[in-house]
Amino acid sequence: MSVIVLLFFSVILQINGQYPSFPDCQAGVLSSFPICNQSLTSRERAADLINRMTVLEKISQMITTAEGVPRLGLPKYEWWSEALHGLAYSPGVFFGGDLPAASSFPMPINLGATFNMRLIHQIASIISTEARAFNNEGRAGLTFFTPNINIFRDPRWGRGQETPGEDPFLTSQYVYALIQGLQRGDDERYLKIAANCKHFDAYDLENWNGTDRHHFNAIVSDQDLVETYLPPFKSCIQDAQVASIMCSYNSINGIPACAHQFLLETIARESFHLNGFVVSDCNAISDILHTHHYTSTPEQTVAVALRAGTDLECGVFYLFHMNDALHRKLINETDINQALMRTYDVLIRLGWFDPPEQQVYRQLNKNNVDTGEARQLSLVSAQESIVLLKNINGSLPLDFNQLTNKRIALIGPTADATIQMQGIYHGRAPFLVDPLGGFKNITAGKPIGVDYARGCGISSHSERDFAAAVRLAQSSDIVIFFGGIDHTIERESVDRQSIALPDIQLSLIQELEKVTRSPLHVVIMSGSSLDLSYIRDSVGCASLIWMGYPGQSGGLAVASVVFGQYNPAGRLPVTFYPASYVNEVSMFNMQLRPSANSPGRTYKFYTGKAIYEFGYGLSYTTFNYTWDNRTFISAYSIQSVMKQINRQEKTIISSIRINVTNTGSMNGDDVVLAYVTPPNVSSEQIAPFKQLFGFERVHLKVNETKEVCFTFTVETALLVARNASKWLHSGSYRIIIGQQHIGVIQLQGQTIRWV
Ligand SMILES: *[C@@H]1O[C@H](CO)[C@@H](O)[C@H](O)[C@H]1NC(C)=O
Ligand SMILES: *[C@@H]1O[C@H](CO)[C@@H](O)[C@H](O)[C@H]1NC(C)=O
Ligand SMILES: *[C@@H]1O[C@H](CO)[C@@H](O)[C@H](O)[C@H]1NC(C)=O
Ligand SMILES: *[C@@H]1O[C@H](CO)[C@@H](O)[C@H](O)[C@H]1NC(C)=O
Ligand SMILES: *[C@@H]1O[C@H](CO)[C@@H](O)[C@H](O)[C@H]1NC(C)=O
Ligand SMILES: *[C@@H]1O[C@H](CO)[C@@H](O)[C@H](O)[C@H]1NC(C)=O
Ligand SMILES: *[C@@H]1O[C@H](CO)[C@@H](O)[C@H](O)[C@H]1NC(C)=O
Ligand SMILES: *[C@@H]1O[C@H](CO)[C@@H](O)[C@H](O)[C@H]1NC(C)=O
Ligand SMILES: *[C@@H]1O[C@H](CO)[C@@H](O)[C@H](O)[C@H]1NC(C)=O
Ligand SMILES: *[C@@H]1O[C@H](CO)[C@@H](O)[C@H](O)[C@H]1NC(C)=O
Ligand SMILES: *[C@@H]1O[C@H](CO)[C@@H](O)[C@H](O)[C@H]1NC(C)=O
Repeated sequence: MSVIVLLFFSVILQINGQYPSFPDCQAGVLSSFPICNQSLTSRERAADLINRMTVLEKISQMITTAEGVPRLGLPKYEWWSEALHGLAYSPGVFFGGDLPAASSFPMPINLGATFNMRLIHQIASIISTEARAFNNEGRAGLTFFTPNINIFRDPRWGRGQETPGEDPFLTSQYVYALIQGLQRGDDERYLKIAANCKHFDAYDLENWNGTDRHHFNAIVSDQDLVETYLPPFKSCIQDAQVASIMCSYNSINGIPACAHQFLLETIARESFHLNGFVVSDCNAISDILHTHHYTSTPEQTVAVALRAGTDLECGVFYLFHMNDALHRKLINETDINQALMRTYDVLIRLGWFDPPEQQVYRQLNKNNVDTGEARQLSLVSAQESIVLLKNINGSLPLDFNQLTNKRIALIGPTADATIQMQGIYHGRAPFLVDPLGGFKNITAGKPIGVDYARGCGISSHSERDFAAAVRLAQSSDIVIFFGGIDHTIERESVDRQSIALPDIQLSLIQELEKVTRSPLHVVIMSGSSLDLSYIRDSVGCASLIWMGYPGQSGGLAVASVVFGQYNPAGRLPVTFYPASYVNEVSMFNMQLRPSANSPGRTYKFYTGKAIYEFGYGLSYTTFNYTWDNRTFISAYSIQSVMKQINRQEKTIISSIRINVTNTGSMNGDDVVLAYVTPPNVSSEQIAPFKQLFGFERVHLKVNETKEVCFTFTVETALLVARNASKWLHSGSYRIIIGQQHIGVIQLQGQTIRWV
């Protein structure tokens, strides 16, 4: 839903004073009912509450702005709160009073670039703590429609920035760490908050070539579904035990996602064991009828959605048409009860009906929001996400000793970015340090000048401000260009047409290159890939940094990298394609593998030459990898793997140990990436060039060595056939660490079908 609509909702709710409140299980009407009896199971408690409601009362609880039942002492509840990278504007979240702001962490695309799952867990823990503090003061719900774990399949996608990138393995690891931090905390009896994995499934298009997400029918092969579009949801639902998922706007192979019984029941519930509810994306039920034309009446529409397993609607379609569907016998009251069982079960597991005194999370308050620890973590996560893409002759970091009485110019449309650094789905940050502020902070008290000129807009056509920028560049010793894109170009409902750097910025860079005393430094803000080949190749550009959308302390983080107070180690979580890519493949094409109509997608299948590859990123120091070659001497028998008692995808076939040594002259992190290139098993079944199967971010002092270990499991080796069956093939699996081929794992014996 658009931000404007969100803000509208927030205003309406605030005027009406509909802050969420808690049921009174102490003295109220409810208190004598089993819903308040903690000796009973959550399902028993929910069943009794539901049985006391009339049909109309039940129906009014099946939408996200749930009415409550005053007669029974059941308060209103707004199910829709957001917290993608900090508490965010949404119908359930209100900033103000004692809680004017919440920590604003970097966008998930940055979090993907950190490749640091401990960090992501810590961030999620702080977000859930702040969420509870807001909830305790009536300023947020307990159910959050976060995270977005769709695969960033096409660089044009306006919401790709909400995800950790293009790789299913990375996204699966990310969502596991995130959900643990959001849902689990110090009190094992309760969910800390309820998260929501969205958008199920194959949603990653906003509006392209005249077709928007409400009309889009994603044609997805079984192979791509099993190999790429389902794994993050499996990790979220089965491994991390998320409390809810959201069905998406689009259709999948002709069936709207919220009417897709196979996906919602067979896959999510039966196969992945979803223990929670399914909520529709906002107005997606109405889309089943009005944009997908999958049904012909409103009653049929609510019936297919409810029967497919959509328990809760964001919208009002259920409210207006459920009763008629019931009268026409398209559904029965058991269907309604089942949906309510699933939603109330989650509220009970959140402790909503239990006494506050006994609950750790109910004690959290404004003192737990925007703490020193949260501020530090927000800065560190921004620093860890920054990717150094080019650094000729060690031009970075800038050396303070050589800057005495020198002037640094920051030029360009993102040098003073504040709210833009928050990306989308953001809230009110306690403060926002723009790059200019970051540079001034770090140079404070030193004889170094920092000046600023805007030069041009993000994508304007006016060169009016060029002259002033060029004059400033001429009189400066160091010039740093701050460019890139922002929410005016990529956001919800808006996909990009072009992935080139906006022309106006390229022109300005070229003007600056002509006049600078030393080669230009460039910093790019974006939540997606841009063709940066000009900057990469130009001798007039000494360095290039990608900063993503780094959140409240983003400007300070960038400055600390430029001055070498932080040694960068972020890695690109997406492929940076050449600008021509958008002409080579339709955004409607969901296929990952190359074909006559596509050069392929992501580092796994893209057959062209990337501008910068997935996983790319430099450091101010150097690292060396050493390993024991004997790891690769023995071959492994498929038949003996099959005989193991715990025959699971996580079964370990081999362990790969790597010693990482910092061989340079600066302390810093290395992100060690482990890939496998599987055997080429048949011509019709194109294997990926490589597939990430492990990663580890390690901090190493100069000369220090640390050992990192990766496990080569059955899951790592499994190949998905065209018909979605999974196979353990005999053959050679090449292991690549970073850019280095280090050895081959041999699987011997008869190829077998796994599932
Ligand atoms: C709560 O449920 C338990 C188990 O059924 C029952 O023994 C107990 O009497 C109930 N307590 C109240 C206050 O109703
Ligand atoms: C209600 O419909 C479901 C199918 O969704 C069916 O299994 C069930 O038996 C029906 N219940 C009643 C009470 O008719
Ligand atoms: C620089 O930023 C840090 C962290 O936000 C802050 O503690 C410090 O006071 C700032 N210093 C200056 C001179 O602005
Ligand atoms: C890098 O150093 C070489 C050799 O000193 C020099 O020719 C070149 O211009 C330098 N390039 C940049 C971008 O500073
Ligand atoms: C884009 O839209 C135009 C005009 O409707 C149509 O001719 C073209 O085939 C469409 N392209 C794709 C890839 O769907
Ligand atoms: C890295 O390690 C390898 C293998 O031990 C060694 O041959 C090589 O010299 C090392 N490189 C550096 C730069 O230390
Ligand atoms: C053994 O490993 C080293 C790096 O540690 C590599 O340079 C060498 O070629 C390997 N030898 C064999 C026989 O694979
Ligand atoms: C890593 O280095 C340590 C210490 O030198 C050594 O004991 C260990 O065997 C090495 N591991 C590998 C995989 O080379
Ligand atoms: C895989 O094998 C097929 C047929 O043997 C061949 O056409 C294809 O080029 C091979 N692919 C790679 C990446 O080696
Ligand atoms: C790192 O090792 C080199 C070579 O052994 C040595 O010259 C240097 O002093 C060491 N640096 C540190 C910081 O220990
Ligand atoms: C699925 O594909 C595999 C590999 O191509 C083939 O061996 C198998 O028979 C197929 N299974 C079905 C049910 O079609």
